[in-house]
Amino acid sequence: MARDQPVKGRELVLALETSCDETAAAVVRDDGEVLANVVASQIALHRPHGGVVPELASREHNLALLPVVSEALRKAEIDLRDLGLIAATAGPGLASSLLVGNTSGKTLALALGLPFFAINHLEGHLLSPFLGRAGGVQGCVALIVSGGHTLLLELRGVGDYRLLGATRDDAAGEAFDKGAKLLGLPYPGGPEMDQRARSGNAAAFDFPRSMVDSGDHEFSFSGLKTSLRYLLAKMDPAAMAERLDDLCASYQAAIVEILTLKALAAVRATGRRALAVSGGVSRNSALRDSLARACGGEGVELFLAPADLATDNAAMIGYAALLKHRAGQAPSPLSEDIDPNLELPVNAGWP
Ligand code: KG4
Ligand code: ZN
Repeated sequence: MARDQPVKGRELVLALETSCDETAAAVVRDDGEVLANVVASQIALHRPHGGVVPELASREHNLALLPVVSEALRKAEIDLRDLGLIAATAGPGLASSLLVGNTSGKTLALALGLPFFAINHLEGHLLSPFLGRAGGVQGCVALIVSGGHTLLLELRGVGDYRLLGATRDDAAGEAFDKGAKLLGLPYPGGPEMDQRARSGNAAAFDFPRSMVDSGDHEFSFSGLKTSLRYLLAKMDPAAMAERLDDLCASYQAAIVEILTLKALAAVRATGRRALAVSGGVSRNSALRDSLARACGGEGVELFLAPADLATDNAAMIGYAALLKHRAGQAPSPLSEDIDPNLELPVNAGWP
């Protein structure tokens, strides 16, 4: 890999991420440059089951992790002795999947005598829009939209977050995946729907935009999925197949509009002038366009996670570890367990 600065003398982190169905390792330099970002996807393994099977996922992580780490080191043109830090995801996620990356990370840290940082997967997503940006992390409203979470936060700095609102039922990614399943699209449905929606008419069907006028920062997506189910129950299969692209475009448009309106309302309510958007759903092309238009129209600076770092990856875990290390935070004890239900630390020091 061509590099503008030599590696020696700079702090390098090796980060591991195995919280769900991607086996990922990355090498990130202390200035935020990603030297290697390797992701082994398990989509083909889980697709026949229509969703992630936890036992299959953990066993696949066990097989894939060391080859993925070797490839990351090779791509970064370093060996283990060049590393300064080790980081791994501690939660939230599937317990048996988290254990593979977390235990391997601690073992490497112990063997190499390096500090270990246990990272919250959601904090990895949250900070990812700032990865590699010269200005680093800045005050903003943050929207995390992933397969398991839909969160609106206000961010003052690294580790300094206030929760504004969350989903009351399905996450935005679940709304995509469950809607896609009803439409007979393969798992995971989000990217499939994104692709089909490009050739569909977003105004062909009218889907509800729940809670856009609720006056708070909460979301609800379960009614959207239900309205699709009712609509499909009235259509014959041939009509559904013929209108599939229009159905995808219209259903997607409802999710995109809800997310855009709620995010911009939170920006207005907090008086912040920047919006940072992350998580797998932030890879959606219609959402990226809609946010860019809305932020442009209101003079709000938009920080989008780079498309390849929007879905699960280890570079965001390494970046979060570097930021914590730089902020003087102590490394994590090697005796600390994983936590499948780990929550984002919020609201400390806020009025
Ligand atoms: O952040 P992520 O990779 O994993 C979690 O932490 O959950 O997010 C996965 C979610 C899935 O629901 C997937 O369908 C969705 O992100 N997703 C998308 C797109 N790419 C991934 N949803 C809509 N459009 C996409 N292009
Ligand atoms: Zn994620």
